[in-house]
Amino acid sequence: MAGACSLGPLLVLLLAGVSVSLPVTVVRLNKAMLDYVSDIGKVPLQRALQVTVSDFLDRSDAVLQSTRVQILGVHLPHLHLKFIAGFGIRLSAAANFTIKVFRVPEPMELVLPVALLADVHVARDSIGTLVLSISTCSSLFSPASTLDGSNSTSQELLDLVQEHIRADLSNMLCLQVSGLVQDLNVHLGTLIGLSPVGPESQIRYSVTSTPTITSNYMSMDVRAILFLLGKPILLPLHGAHPFVLPRPLGAEGAMATVGLSQHLFDCALLMLQKAGSLNLEITGQLNSKNNPLNTSMLGQLIPEVARQFPEPMPVVLKVQLGATPVVTLHTNYSTLQLRPSVEVLAASPSSALQFLFSLDVMVNLNLQLFVSKAKLRGTTSMLGGLQLSVATSNVGSIDMDQVYTLISTVFQKPLLDHLNALLGMGIALPSVLNLHYVHSEVSICEGYVVISSGLAYQR
Ligand SMILES: *[C@@H]1O[C@H](CO)[C@@H](O)[C@H](O)[C@H]1NC(C)=O
Ligand SMILES: *[C@@H]1O[C@H](CO)[C@@H](O)[C@H](O)[C@H]1NC(C)=O
Ligand SMILES: *[C@@H]1O[C@H](CO)[C@@H](O)[C@H](O)[C@H]1NC(C)=O
Ligand SMILES: *[C@@H]1O[C@H](CO)[C@@H](O)[C@H](O)[C@H]1NC(C)=O
Repeated sequence: MAGACSLGPLLVLLLAGVSVSLPVTVVRLNKAMLDYVSDIGKVPLQRALQVTVSDFLDRSDAVLQSTRVQILGVHLPHLHLKFIAGFGIRLSAAANFTIKVFRVPEPMELVLPVALLADVHVARDSIGTLVLSISTCSSLFSPASTLDGSNSTSQELLDLVQEHIRADLSNMLCLQVSGLVQDLNVHLGTLIGLSPVGPESQIRYSVTSTPTITSNYMSMDVRAILFLLGKPILLPLHGAHPFVLPRPLGAEGAMATVGLSQHLFDCALLMLQKAGSLNLEITGQLNSKNNPLNTSMLGQLIPEVARQFPEPMPVVLKVQLGATPVVTLHTNYSTLQLRPSVEVLAASPSSALQFLFSLDVMVNLNLQLFVSKAKLRGTTSMLGGLQLSVATSNVGSIDMDQVYTLISTVFQKPLLDHLNALLGMGIALPSVLNLHYVHSEVSICEGYVVISSGLAYQR
């Protein structure tokens, strides 16, 4: 939490007057999410309502008698949550309390129906999490009925006992609801926790706007900050427009709709490139299946290689990404373009690497996006062939037509394997502890991505 607080001023300094911006995602929670919360919230609410009632002082006899009163059980079949436009969420619940009054000589059991009503205000706090607070709460008691025909009880006594129980419960029940809301706030606070993206990189989300609440949904802007070695990744925003999730907003009936801006993808790729994660080395060994390239093969196409290496030597490819890959989001598909440079080296007997030549490569890939375990992940496949051109050569002129097939065969599969392993690790989506995205659908739109998803709480 201290980290989160100290980060604020730092970012203000970093961003003041600088034409950079942090990527924003839009998170919309729909009615279906409230239905889900109502469903999973019943048990904890029922448990919270099982409070301790104080003893009842029975004045009906000449002698003042203290009688123990105990809630045996709470049955809460209905919990209903709905959005209150411009404000928050209304909670209504109906419960039956089974109460035992340890009266002498004969104990009695009552069923007391209670309706609970609470309005919960939803706001954003300064550290960028959502905070819920109860603005009004009331409990409405209906007349109790006695169980198992114990109608030896006078109506007068029944009224007195009920009055005692109501007086006790009316404050306590709202306090219990308030306690649950506080627990929920702690939980919601986990949104701003750092999630690892790679070994030295993280992502942190925070809510930047007051949530917009209508009777159908609650929507908020959630900023993403990617960190590499503790430093935020900052990129100028193309077009300088803040991200707004256009309509339509993904599948109807989904619990959550999350819109991710192009800017987030740009920052994520910049981070991967800066971290060097996109670079790879395709090692060489003689008679290797992974890299069948050797100097005798190359020598058949490049005479100078044959001259310098009369004995076959393994060949190593060093793939470096100097330029940040470019992701393009089109309607229904996305592409990734990489411009790596490849150094081709021969491993001499002394095992020192000897530079042969280098190539500028352009690779166009299809990028498929999917969600699993609250992470957006990707997988790539080739889109057309590689484009290769010689950048520098230590082995004279190279006929690209001759070398093309050889190099692209050796290069393509390791590159795709490497990228898919990396993109498959994915990037955490906005979420809170133990909340998972389930049955997610990813739609790619011109310049942004929309995820429609169910949510599931799993400890
Ligand atoms: C409470 O019990 C009464 C009588 O059994 C029943 O009619 C009513 O539906 C119950 N209400 C709730 C909320 O369980
Ligand atoms: C309860 O009261 C009703 C009428 O008020 C009566 O008919 C019934 O017999 C009583 N039951 C017991 C167990 O006393
Ligand atoms: C060099 O590569 C060619 C083609 O893969 C292969 O036939 C040959 O055995 C290799 N030579 C050595 C020494 O690995
Ligand atoms: C995108 O996919 C949807 C659903 O498959 C289809 O209805 C729509 O026509 C597609 N749009 C384009 C531009 O291909």
